[in-house]
Amino acid sequence: MKILVVGGGGREHAIIKKVKESPLVEEIYALPGNGGIAADAVCVNIGAKDIDGIVKFALENKIDYAIVAPDDPLVLGAVDALNEVGIPCFGPKANAAIIEGSKIFSKNLMKKYGIPTAAYEVFTEIDAALEYLNDAPIPTVIKADGLALGKGVVIAMTREEAIDAVRSMMQDKAFGESGSRIVIEEFLTGPEVSVLSFTDGKTVVPMVSSMDHKRALDNDCGLNTGGMGTIAPNPYYTDAIAKECMEKIFVPTINAMNAEGRTFKGCLYFGLMLTPDGPKVIEYNCRFGDPETQVVLPLLNGDLLKIMMACTNGTLADTSVEFSDGAACCVVMASSGYPGKYQSGYQITVDNDIEAEVYVAGAKLDGEKLLTAGGRVLGVTATGKDLAAAINKAYANVGKVNFENAFYRNDIGAKALKALK
Ligand code: AMP
Ligand code: GLY
Repeated sequence: MKILVVGGGGREHAIIKKVKESPLVEEIYALPGNGGIAADAVCVNIGAKDIDGIVKFALENKIDYAIVAPDDPLVLGAVDALNEVGIPCFGPKANAAIIEGSKIFSKNLMKKYGIPTAAYEVFTEIDAALEYLNDAPIPTVIKADGLALGKGVVIAMTREEAIDAVRSMMQDKAFGESGSRIVIEEFLTGPEVSVLSFTDGKTVVPMVSSMDHKRALDNDCGLNTGGMGTIAPNPYYTDAIAKECMEKIFVPTINAMNAEGRTFKGCLYFGLMLTPDGPKVIEYNCRFGDPETQVVLPLLNGDLLKIMMACTNGTLADTSVEFSDGAACCVVMASSGYPGKYQSGYQITVDNDIEAEVYVAGAKLDGEKLLTAGGRVLGVTATGKDLAAAINKAYANVGKVNFENAFYRNDIGAKALKALK
């Protein structure tokens, strides 16, 4: 089969490496891919948001199956457009991708169907939002309605910060039209868990749980980033909690989307907080998480392409989805300065004796040389019999990847290890 993967980050590299193991695969194209992905797929310089370009390429190259990985093309209707010309896809249609594309949609969905989440108010006018903040409980959380590259959430620890956030979103349009409508919600506390799931719209199969590390610096200090590392499984997510989430969150969400006429097929990502009042949904994503995918897929036993096609065909209930008992750790190596300003163009070299997967996120080819070309450059993923082994192995192998100005957290998985003790 000829497979097309839309996207070009570390997540897409992990998907491509796993899909490539399938005996069904003849060729994989990545649009646009990146310099590192080029080792595993044919990269074509068509942007992930260029829906017309993607469809044209898919038709011309007789693509048999497409995997749309990032949020933007899903929300823009890439799956709808590919389906229209007869190409089956992994990923939700636009009317279901809205579960990530609009926070107001997802909050209202959870309220309507009794799915546990933080209490909230929706505002479309700045005056009403500011007035509400006069006596809202603090801390509070301000969220832009639409996609904002993962930056549309402000945790306001003071009333002033909350007011500033509302002004910057609604008045100064810091996130463009994404912030013209906002959600102000209750501040929750507790460990966070990411649960990615496969679903064909009828059956939902959770993958191994994981934990992201969003802050730039050790001990969860510094600015929010796209994710500096991940571990799986997440030790806070016990079997009892998993059972509760299945009953109160996962199945009700799939049913709610069906009841709304918005059947979700693909990977539905549940961002959960384990609060003193039980697990609650912090966010839904309509796609694989990044860098969660880089620890979840290495633990998947079996044929990812077959599982994906079962999600498309509605046969997930008859398809085996198994994860290994071990653990995985991904350490992201970034360019110094990220998520602020940073320099690019440094050569990346990997020692021959590396014993880990390297998933490339921000790099380009210059002849034979691979050069850094992004904030998050790559992720080093190791698996082991348990979390401690995976963490040790990941850090041992980080030392085998070299580029100038590299920077990474030293404590990926440390909190999880402590929780295990
Ligand atoms: P999101 O972009 O929705 O994933 O939010 C980014 C981060 O903000 C989450 O991973 C949480 O750490 C935090 N967050 C979001 N909503 C809340 C909330 N209601 N209470 C506390 N923290 C939150
Ligand atoms: N790691 C969080 C996300 O993919 O949105």
